Amino acid sequence: MTDTLIVHGGSPLHGRIRLRGAKNFVSKAMVASLLGETPSRLRNVPQIRDVGVVTGLLELHGVSVTTVGDDTLLLDPTEVETAHSADIDAHAGTSRIPILLCGPLLHRLGEAFIPDLGGCKIGDRPINYHLESLRRFGAVVDKLPSGIRITAPKGLKGTKIELEFPSVGATEQVLLTAVRAEGVTELKNAAIEPEIADLIAVLQKMGAIISVDTDRVIRIEGVDRLEGYDHYALTDRIEAASWACAALATRGDVFLEGATQPEMMTFLNVFRKVGGQFDVRDDGVRFWHPGGDLRSIVLETDVHPGFMTDWQQPLVVALTQASGISIVHETVYENRFGFTEALREMGATIQVYRECLGGASCRFGQRNFQHSAVVSGPSKLHSAEITVPDLRGGFSHLIAALAAEGTSKVHGIGLIDRGYERFGEKLAALGAMVERG
Ligand code: EPZ
Repeated sequence: MTDTLIVHGGSPLHGRIRLRGAKNFVSKAMVASLLGETPSRLRNVPQIRDVGVVTGLLELHGVSVTTVGDDTLLLDPTEVETAHSADIDAHAGTSRIPILLCGPLLHRLGEAFIPDLGGCKIGDRPINYHLESLRRFGAVVDKLPSGIRITAPKGLKGTKIELEFPSVGATEQVLLTAVRAEGVTELKNAAIEPEIADLIAVLQKMGAIISVDTDRVIRIEGVDRLEGYDHYALTDRIEAASWACAALATRGDVFLEGATQPEMMTFLNVFRKVGGQFDVRDDGVRFWHPGGDLRSIVLETDVHPGFMTDWQQPLVVALTQASGISIVHETVYENRFGFTEALREMGATIQVYRECLGGASCRFGQRNFQHSAVVSGPSKLHSAEITVPDLRGGFSHLIAALAAEGTSKVHGIGLIDRGYERFGEKLAALGAMVERG
């Protein structure tokens, strides 16, 4: 199958699609299964490439991963073994998940090897918080040319950690390590994203003792043994927001089965302010463009409960269709506006700035990062030949191509398969005129 999608744009998306479990939770829950003495069952798993990558990594360590039916994984860690670093290396550059295997592997095997990490190119994405946290638990970190070797000669002990920034990955690292470390761990300035709450729910089902205070403090009492879990993954709120923005940008009307309100509160407020309409039902949320003009807004991305950075890219495409000047300040990643270049080629008016515009100054303010965008609209988008830069930026390009008049060629759509389940089929179900090129 080719890696190019030909999009005949200019018609609204209409129809109903079903969403499944969150990519950024499912992969972590799969890793958590390594901590159990008995098999786990994870339900509502999407068929996306990242699940395949984590499956491969777990299998390399002796975990048997079986797919049952359409969306359930059985994960059996009873035969966990040390993988050969050369095999793990084959996964280098494909995902950021390997770093999260450290805690579970240290508990199970006493050592872990992490290849060079992949993931989207949206900033430097260092792993200093991860490594510093592991050191505080008593791990020894050796940097090798091929990756990082981590051992725990004296075992892992509970500790006090304060994150400089409420990093999602570092919070997950601490959780996955602390649950079986000896004694109590206190994590300050933790991330509290819904995907983390669901990971905590999984760990609690496994036997962990974890409390979350209102002030971003998480306390974990280590236990000697964890069992497998049975869990239904929360819905992917990034996928939901992406399709909602696609409906808005194309003046369409979509029903997203499985989308849930509590995890999307902040998005729903912004969607309404821009002029989009939604209707929350028991089995999902309907999003639509009510006709007339969309309104410009001033917006800042932030950690939960703020407006997610992953919602920013699809929303910016919808903002090209709003009347007036919108300002978007990205405070989570320093380099997440690269995708706007293609939008400019398609006729959008977007300028990016180094300054913190439209809100409080952030940690990127006095540095050389173009992390604020000014979008003037509405702009008539026209077709183009574009190449997908990263997962969310790629989906945003797809939205732009759907909203544009004429036929666009979108190259590199394999990247979108990493996080959007069967998006080609879903586009067809919503009446989009697309074909593989
Ligand atoms: C997760 O990345 C998600 N990925 C990202 O989704 C998401 O954008 C991000 O959380 C924020 O919500 C997965 O869950 C696999 P962070 P993560 O650690 O955990 C800095 C997508 O498209 N930082 O919260 O890697 C970092 O550079 C992806 O689905 C350090 O400085 O994000 C960033 O500026 C993209 N040192 C900020 O913290 C560290 O050791 C937040 O990153 C770790 C992070």
